[in-house]
Amino acid sequence: MPANSVVIVGTGSYAPERVVTNAELSHMVTTSDEWIRTRSGIRERRIAAPGEEASDMAVQAANRALADAKVGPDEIDLLIVATFTADLRIPSAASVIQNKMGLSPAAASFDLNAACSGYLYALDAGCAMLASGRYRRALVIGVEKLSPVVDWTDRTTCVLFGDGAGAAVLGLDSDPGRGLLGTKLGALGNSVELLHIPAGGSFIKMKGREVFKAAVRAMEEISRSILEQHGLDGSHIALVIPHQANLRIIDALAEYLEIPMDRFFVNVDRYGNTASASIPMAMDEACRAGRIRSGDLILLVAFGAGLTYGSALIRW
Ligand code: ACO
Repeated sequence: MPANSVVIVGTGSYAPERVVTNAELSHMVTTSDEWIRTRSGIRERRIAAPGEEASDMAVQAANRALADAKVGPDEIDLLIVATFTADLRIPSAASVIQNKMGLSPAAASFDLNAACSGYLYALDAGCAMLASGRYRRALVIGVEKLSPVVDWTDRTTCVLFGDGAGAAVLGLDSDPGRGLLGTKLGALGNSVELLHIPAGGSFIKMKGREVFKAAVRAMEEISRSILEQHGLDGSHIALVIPHQANLRIIDALAEYLEIPMDRFFVNVDRYGNTASASIPMAMDEACRAGRIRSGDLILLVAFGAGLTYGSALIRW
């Protein structure tokens, strides 16, 4: 147990203005609003404007998180960006964002790619680096501009994804009972063919049905595992914030964990799957909607290509 706890002191999110409805997609590929809604729960998604880069979305979300935390950009000494759709191959999204936000050049800044579980990996890394005592305040961003890596002629994938960004500011607190209580992370590296983007670019390729089954199994196991480790069960959790990929995946998880759906936060209907941005966007919306109160126990759980998976337990 570190001398100081690592707590979330502010959150922010951003979604591009342009809304793409299921009806609009049904003019682009052979699909229907009914099929998309019943198979995935998605009604619409946001798509970045021409020239709007991942870094621009990230800056919007991060500035909102800084305002919420009442922390100035000069106070951030660690920036971690979870993404697999950075503006450039190099430098990292973090370097571009650091410059656009006017963060201190002394802030350590790097990207982290664990696909849709990336934000939980980034939270864990940020937490460990703060707990080490070598950093004081971290900005952890999840951002994804998926629209360029989605094949808009492939109906099996294009209906599922969207663009967006979410962020949280992490700080230290002297109360050992608060903040990030623990994480569990893992990866099933033998499942690359289920979900990947080929090297050198091109589009997301996915075996949807297999990913679905693996996702439910992995999220159930990693949720049970972290609850058991802390001597808890589902009844202790005020709110579960799962990766927003498919409402049916969330429904199945709720059933297996025996936690009622009204204790799950869901916004996949409005944004689709925004990969690394999904959990921080949902966390910010949940806070602003009054779904999280001080002292609540929150479970974050995710899976993604890799197949990476993870859970985190937070005493808010
Ligand atoms: N519109 C209409 N019909 C469609 C569409 C579409 N958009 N897409 C597929 N179909 C058809 C298929 O061709 C198939 O037709 P067939 O029976 O004639 O062969 C039929 O619908 C059923 O297809 P399935 O793939 O079996 O449908 P399923 O119920 O499994 O739902 C879905 C598909 C929504 C993709 C689901 O499997 C899923 O959500 N999987 C998980 C995907 C996921 O979460 N990916 C994110 C990973 S996170 C990351 O790291 C990026």
